[in-house]
Amino acid sequence: MSASRPAAVIVLAAGEGTRMKSRTSKVLHEIGGRAMVGHVIAAARALEPGRVFVVVGSRREQVEAYLAEREPGVEAVVQERQGGTGHAVRMVLEQVGALDGTVVVTNGDHPLLSGETLRALAAAHRDEGNAVTVLTTEMPDATGYGRVLRDAGGAVTGIVEHKDATAEQRAVHEINVGMYAFDGALLADALKRVTTDNAGGEEYLTDVVAILRGDGHRAGAFLAPDWVETQGVNDRVQLAQARRQLNDRVLEAHMRAGVTIVDPASTWIDVEVTAEPDAVVHPNTQLHGATHLGAGAEVGPGCTLTDTRVGADATVVNAVCVGAEIGPQASVGPFAYLRPGARLARKAKAGTYVELKNSEVGEGAKVPHLTYVGDAEIGPGANIGAGTIFANYDGVGKHRTEIGAAAFVGSNSVLVAPVTVADGAYTAAGSTVTSDVPPGAIGVARGRQRNIEGWVERSRAGTPSAEAARAARDERDRDGE
Ligand code: UD1
Ligand code: CA
Repeated sequence: MSASRPAAVIVLAAGEGTRMKSRTSKVLHEIGGRAMVGHVIAAARALEPGRVFVVVGSRREQVEAYLAEREPGVEAVVQERQGGTGHAVRMVLEQVGALDGTVVVTNGDHPLLSGETLRALAAAHRDEGNAVTVLTTEMPDATGYGRVLRDAGGAVTGIVEHKDATAEQRAVHEINVGMYAFDGALLADALKRVTTDNAGGEEYLTDVVAILRGDGHRAGAFLAPDWVETQGVNDRVQLAQARRQLNDRVLEAHMRAGVTIVDPASTWIDVEVTAEPDAVVHPNTQLHGATHLGAGAEVGPGCTLTDTRVGADATVVNAVCVGAEIGPQASVGPFAYLRPGARLARKAKAGTYVELKNSEVGEGAKVPHLTYVGDAEIGPGANIGAGTIFANYDGVGKHRTEIGAAAFVGSNSVLVAPVTVADGAYTAAGSTVTSDVPPGAIGVARGRQRNIEGWVERSRAGTPSAEAARAARDERDRDGE
């Protein structure tokens, strides 16, 4: 283990989060497609710590369920009552035993903090040989934050909470971000001496700084250069600000890596989305989850893609896609809905007002207009006429439809599954196809047309239609003479 790798990171996530006014735990509110505590854990993992603990308390079932599902290897520690940040850390040390080496503690409500900054904090802690190193920053509006106190020589002497601070102390702009590196053994000892003698009536973790300093140990501060990433989230206004800032950071990284983002103001990209150079994202587009854009792919305007892979040079316009796979040079939209399991091969098309679910569209095959495709396999080069419905559901179960290579399904066909239209076969427009069409045949499944001469003039006398019919008849009679 390298010297700067801490023994443990402790993430504090047991607080009430009252100001969120939410039935969801504050740390589970998402930005950039990831819970706030997930961002903090990601930053913590950048330190490659021996263990990661998350202190849970308020709405702990929710947080525990999230950790179990999304964060393997992270250990939840219960804080039964919310006795303050010092109490929370004390609970961890009492429950898991002594932690030797460096222990990093971070608040769970700082989703913007980068792993890089945490690493710099841990490195400064090691290089300066401190007992405690506090991450600080110069905050333009320090209201609500703990202020960092220094002596005449500039050495850190302690932290005073906003609530407990004098007017003079409140004038200080260097604040405690809520991230610290401690010597584990000294931390355990100091926490035993933290009192609740303060405005909050809580055990403040921040008091450990003055206690260690009083014992003659070194306390240091690492000043984060960018205060923006150190901001905490206590309410939904700050949540929206953090979301915007994280998004700006994500978009900037994509643009620097060669992705064109036409309108950053109306584009939202989750942190796990990946894109190759020369992908283009048009306005009003949201990319969620594990979405990937291939080189030269164009997405938008007006797209919402979730867990969708877009192949190289494909285009997707005004579409909603969830769990879809769009092949290279394929085209989707405008106004298409691709649901889970929709797969378009190279140069395939799902056009206007087309819905696809659990279906494969073969290479170069086209579904251009007004069509529902469910549970189907469409062969390469096939063409599906406008208004076709793949009737996959019989009221009880779902069934599959197979369309062969270069098959041609006439407009407004209903394909009642299970059914096959084989290679090179056709269906006549307006057919309701209930049995297989063999290779090269045309399936015609509709009433034969018969015309009843003179019906309109007889049965709709006096209407504009009857008059038009009579005029046409007169003309025909004249021409016939
Ligand atoms: C804390 C710091 C303050 C700092 C600020 C930065 C203390 C005493 N103060 O204040 O100096 O400027 O963060 O945002 O630490 N939590 C628990 N158990 C508890 C109480 C809190 O796990 O009993 C967790 C919360 O879920 C939260 C974190 O600790 O993630 C911080 O708690 P919060 O009440 O938000 O502290 P602040 O008042 O913001
Ligand atoms: Ca129809």
